[in-house]
Amino acid sequence: MAHTGEQTIKNQLVSALTGAGDCYISGQYLAEIAGCSRTAIWKHIDALRKEGYEIEAVKKKGYRIVPRKDRLTEADILIGLETEFIGKSIHAYESVPTTQTIASELAAKGAVNGTIVISEEQTEGKGRLRRVWHSPHQGGIWMSLIVKPDIPPYHAPRLTLLTAVAAVLAIRETGVNAGIKWPNDVLVNGRKIAGILTELHAESDRIHSVIIGIGINVNQQPEDFIDEIKSLATSLAIEKGIRLDRVAFLQRFLVHFEKLYQQFLKKGFLPIKREWETYSVTIGKKVTAKTAQKTITGYASGINEDGILVVRDEAAKDHLIYSGDITIHHE
Ligand code: BTN
Repeated sequence: MAHTGEQTIKNQLVSALTGAGDCYISGQYLAEIAGCSRTAIWKHIDALRKEGYEIEAVKKKGYRIVPRKDRLTEADILIGLETEFIGKSIHAYESVPTTQTIASELAAKGAVNGTIVISEEQTEGKGRLRRVWHSPHQGGIWMSLIVKPDIPPYHAPRLTLLTAVAAVLAIRETGVNAGIKWPNDVLVNGRKIAGILTELHAESDRIHSVIIGIGINVNQQPEDFIDEIKSLATSLAIEKGIRLDRVAFLQRFLVHFEKLYQQFLKKGFLPIKREWETYSVTIGKKVTAKTAQKTITGYASGINEDGILVVRDEAAKDHLIYSGDITIHHE
């Protein structure tokens, strides 16, 4: 792994060069930004090229980066990925029925911890509660992440909440104000921008693998959404008014996920729970929760240690909502 200071300089160079688009930036200017000599810049540029970045150097003009095409290929994702193990093994496809099934098969065959399965399109994308997850070719991130944590199977739902926090952090970094609607819908201004589906392969006391499926709407335009979800969904490109580099965004998500995952294994769920609550758009609101057994209206007072929603009804009785959908009342 690169030294952190060195990595910071490389990041500064990539972001300056990317921000300049087609224009050249002089070595002198890059040296000022990075706070090092022009010779050091030359060395960093050389290191970046070895990592796979295409950077042109022209005498008297300076440096220019050749933009990568917005493709989620294994090589593109690996270049500049600053994680230790999450996303270091990648299975990338053009079109698959669902990345969840492929990830399950790979996990059963011994895929390493942190493996990701990603596809430009899914023809049978799966959502929560047996719903269909529309996964067209127009620029989303459809991915399944395989992790093998040494935790009891009943703690696995905590990973879903952790993933929602990672998604919110990556989205907020782009300047879009995302929040979490229980259990794991990521929303922007009330519209869904990302969803998470966790599937568990386990014996009664031991996890074989957890397959975390995440769908993030990145570059879709309003017309790319089917009619049923047009008024309910949004994308980063819609919110920001510009297309985003999906690879760069995915890399940031993977970095956030890895940090939270390591924190979770070391320090337990409490710090994650607190962060989840910080970004929650559900807690403290009046909600109606529909489960398979009952419909409860009351105040969402918090989540418990297992990520189960607690709804307090008018008679001050607490109800635990394990799964289902909630509607937030806007009073
Ligand atoms: C939901 O909010 O209902 C969960 C949606 C999860 C969608 C992702 S996209 C990648 C992975 N493959 C699938 O078929 N589903 C998940």
